[in-house]
Amino acid sequence: MSTYRASPEDGVAWITGGSTGIGRSVARMLASEGYTVAVTVRPDDPIDSLIDETKGMKGRVLSFPSDVTDEAGMAAVVAAIEAKAGAIVLAIFNAGTYTSVTGTNLGIGAFRQSFEVNVFGVLNGLVPVIERMRNRGRGHVVFMGSISSYFGWPTTAAYGATKAAVNVMAEALKFDFDKMNVRTQVMNPGFINTPLTEQSPFSMPAMMEVDAAAARICKSIRKGGFEATFPRRLTWGMKLLFLLPRPLREKALRIATRWQAEPMIYLRRSSFD
Ligand SMILES: NC(=O)c1ccc[n+]([C@@H]2O[C@H](COP(=O)([O-])OP(=O)(O)OC[C@H]3O[C@@H](n4cnc5c(N)ncnc54)[C@H](OP(=O)(O)O)[C@@H]3O)[C@@H](O)[C@H]2O)c1
Repeated sequence: MSTYRASPEDGVAWITGGSTGIGRSVARMLASEGYTVAVTVRPDDPIDSLIDETKGMKGRVLSFPSDVTDEAGMAAVVAAIEAKAGAIVLAIFNAGTYTSVTGTNLGIGAFRQSFEVNVFGVLNGLVPVIERMRNRGRGHVVFMGSISSYFGWPTTAAYGATKAAVNVMAEALKFDFDKMNVRTQVMNPGFINTPLTEQSPFSMPAMMEVDAAAARICKSIRKGGFEATFPRRLTWGMKLLFLLPRPLREKALRIATRWQAEPMIYLRRSSFD
C-alpha cells in the first residue's frame, strides 16, 4: 500500500511563514486547489491582504499566528487549527531565515538564531502535529530545505548547516513516518526571488520567480516524491559538484563565487547580520 498523500477533501493544509515569499505563494495556490489553508506567521505580521487575495477561491486561508520559535505557542496553534478548521492532513514547515556568516564575522548569535528558526522552529510544529497524524493513521509533512544543504560554500556556515540538519532529519524520520502512513517530503530549491535572497551577497544563477517555485512545490506535493529540487539546470549541477573530489569542488566554488579574488567586496556586502 502506498503512503498517504494529502488532498483538499481530507482536511487542512498548514503552512508556516506565509507572510512573504514562497510560503505566501504556496498558501495562495493551495487555496486555489481547494484546501482550507492555515497560515502561521509572527503575531505582528498580519496576512489580511493574503486572505483578501484568496477570497472567491475554491478553498480559503485562515490565520493562526505564532513565532515558530515558541514551543508552547506552536503546540497551541496545532490544537487551535484542529479545533476550528479540522484535521491537519498536510503540514509544510516553510518558515526560515538566512544570515550570512563568514569566518571573519563568526559569532554564536547568528548560529543560535538560525537553528532556533530553521531547525527548532520546525520541530516545535512537527512534534505536536505528528502525534495527531499518528493517532489518525495518516498525514503528509513537507520540510523546506535548500541546495545549500548539499555542501558548504562561503557565507552559508549557519544557514547551510540548518538546512543539512533538516534534510538528514527528514531522511531519518521517513523510516518511521512511512510505518505511520505519514508521507515525508523535502523541498530543496535553488535561488528564488524573495525577500530572503535580497540579502544574499552573491549573484545568484538561474534565479526563479516565486510563483514558479511555488507551482513546482505544489506539483511535487501532488506527486509525492521524497526530494524535489529545482530549477534542475542549477540543482543537478550542484549534485554533480557534490560528486567531485572535495579539493576540486572547493576550487570550482572559489571561481564561481569569486571568493578568492575579491574577498573584501563580500565582507562589505555581507555585513547585514
Ligand atoms: N528564497 C530562496 O532562494 C530559498 C531557497 C531555498 C530554500 N528557501 C527556504 O524557503 C523558505 C521560505 O523562504 P523565502 O525565500 O520565501 O523567504 P521569506 O520571504 O523571507 O519568507 C520567510 C517566511 O518565514 C517567516 N519567518 C521567519 N522567522 C519566523 C519566525 N521566527 N516565526 C514565524 N515565521 C517566521 C517570515 O516571516 P517574517 O516576514 O515575519 O520574518 C516569512 O513569512 C525558507 O525556509 C528558506 O530557507 C528559500
